[in-house]
Amino acid sequence: MSNISLKINSKTYSVSTDVYTLIQRCELLSIMIPRFCFHEKLSIAGNCRMCLVEVNNSPKPVVACSTKVVNNMVVLTNSTLIKQIREHIIEFLLINHPLDCPICDQGGECDLQDQTLIYGSDRGRFKEIKRSVLDKNFGPFIKTIMTRCIHCTKCVRFIEEYSMGATIGTLGRGGNTEIGLYNNHILKSELSGNIIDLCPVGALTSKPYAFRARSWELIGTESLDIFDSCGSNIIIQTRGNEILRILPKRNDNINESWITDQIRFVYDAFKKQRLLIPYIKNQLNNKLLPVSWKFGIAFFINNIVVLSKKKPNFFNHFSIFSGNMLDLESIFFIKQFSLQYNIININNTNWNNVNTRHSYIMDTKINEIEFNTMTLILGLDLKIESPIINLKIKKSTHSNSFVKNIIYYIGACINSNINSNQIGLSTKSLLSVLYAKNHITFFIKNSKKLSIFSRSDFKNAYSFNNTIPSSFFKISTNLICLNSGDINTFELNLQSPTKILINDFKKRIPSIFYFIEFDQLLNWNLETSSIFRVYQGNNFSENIIKYNLFLPSTNFTEGSIRLYMNCESRIQRAYPSVTSPGSSIKNSNIIYTVMLSLYDCNSSVKNNSFMNLEHQKSLMLWFIPSYKKSGLVEKTFFLLNNTMKENFWIKNINYIPTIKSFYNNNLYSRISSTLNNINLYRSIDTNFFNL
Ligand code: SF4
Ligand code: FES
Repeated sequence: MSNISLKINSKTYSVSTDVYTLIQRCELLSIMIPRFCFHEKLSIAGNCRMCLVEVNNSPKPVVACSTKVVNNMVVLTNSTLIKQIREHIIEFLLINHPLDCPICDQGGECDLQDQTLIYGSDRGRFKEIKRSVLDKNFGPFIKTIMTRCIHCTKCVRFIEEYSMGATIGTLGRGGNTEIGLYNNHILKSELSGNIIDLCPVGALTSKPYAFRARSWELIGTESLDIFDSCGSNIIIQTRGNEILRILPKRNDNINESWITDQIRFVYDAFKKQRLLIPYIKNQLNNKLLPVSWKFGIAFFINNIVVLSKKKPNFFNHFSIFSGNMLDLESIFFIKQFSLQYNIININNTNWNNVNTRHSYIMDTKINEIEFNTMTLILGLDLKIESPIINLKIKKSTHSNSFVKNIIYYIGACINSNINSNQIGLSTKSLLSVLYAKNHITFFIKNSKKLSIFSRSDFKNAYSFNNTIPSSFFKISTNLICLNSGDINTFELNLQSPTKILINDFKKRIPSIFYFIEFDQLLNWNLETSSIFRVYQGNNFSENIIKYNLFLPSTNFTEGSIRLYMNCESRIQRAYPSVTSPGSSIKNSNIIYTVMLSLYDCNSSVKNNSFMNLEHQKSLMLWFIPSYKKSGLVEKTFFLLNNTMKENFWIKNINYIPTIKSFYNNNLYSRISSTLNNINLYRSIDTNFFNL
């Protein structure tokens, strides 16, 4: 790329032309230009005028946020004129801005406050009465004080470009201008919390965080959104040992600067109905008795031993139910435990189709999605099933994006926020699109970059990979595994049994069921007294009465580092932000302790190297080479078995999305009061407007 010459404040620079605007170029050269309405990831509005600079050949100052850098440009960013302009703009913005900084939640991170201090005057000339604006109802997450709004329109652009389309906007003109909803419904977006971060003043703040703390009191820890498989980067902010806020951490490879409302507002669930010590259930009165760890583990082992004496092949009656948000280390120890004793593992979904890495890792990297020229979505309601991938696809449909993406959708009707063409319902439609000679096939064949998105657990997902004609060499197939823990499960090859084996397993009573962060009891209609159920997890669940033993474990924000692989095979770390509450212990340590205690009283076990923690850890390093480094796309794992390769078949199925509600689809969001409020708000909203 050729370099051009640029003179800023009498200093000459030789710069490349790869950065689009003057404000970005100055930032790279460490020259600060103040701004309110500019954001790198949003379209340019140029309406605050705070970034005015003097440029040669221009009779008037120009806005740096929408001016392109050209060769031999001479720029003044700190002339007397520019300083005066900035002072006047701040004075103008403060005319109607209330002086309520001491009670404003934005205090300490308010752009207007900071820039007034640096560029503002020490007095104002406005003596009239300030205007006031009515607050708007943006739902249970966002508190609005619209009198503070400076009309930068960042919130409007975010909602329009990434979320719900034109739902909010600037209403009125001149002194009556205000930001509001075009209709009187609440803001219904899975990403709405991001406008809190974007707002440069205290007009939009977080309702659950209101008056809880000042920004300078908080300490941030890097972590991950484990509620979907994208692995969005987050910052967990704590004061002492309490989580007060969750914010996005910028990572241009994954989530850019955005996170979902689910991870942003879920943190109240980490403390609610918390399991702090082990409990056993008194069989006589169904009451829970608190016990020590030593007693709890001994009780577990004793039940295993008693039952194993009754049955010859006892471990055929032992099953581990693993949750779908478990980290790599926990999955590794579950796998070792299962291998040692031939235990059956069961998780939520029927994963018989997943037998190559291609079945759960996407072909297209997350940061490449926006460069697709054509996208075909099969039965995925991405808006609620994977909002970050949906955001990337929506971004690629903007008129001002690098390339314009055309979207086709096959599947049941959904309430999508992307303009797409629905071209069918089932596999039949997919095959006709791929093999027929209609205009869509022509478009697909001639598109520069086509991506197909589908779900890993569709019954014919594997066949689907083999369905694509070889002439379509430009197609990237992306079979999305929706849960973070499921990717870890496949990556470490912790196989689930086939449906036939599960049906067979249902008949094997008495049994021991060991639930690890798996909070939904299966409706198998088994006689309860014949089953010993152990629950290992963070919170008491709705099925509390059915468990015989509770073992408290830490969650992903507590105790120690957890590793997760995301849907593009990037291994990342979730660092702990608070200490382990009560006597909870991390999952892998509990599983290892159970394994060790069982070994001590079970002479049938042959391989004692399984019981050596150091040996286990070195094995884990071998299986997970990135354990010591992270953040990169990982390519070195072993392949899953390929037994289905020869005899795949194509079965006609209707593509139907699985997740019904975004706000209670996992064990944390189900117990979060903040997230459950949205359902209440939405039902009132709908009932009210249906009157
Ligand atoms: S509410 Fe905040 S983000 Fe939206 S226009 Fe006003 S100042 Fe900007
Ligand atoms: S930042 Fe350039 S006009 Fe607002």
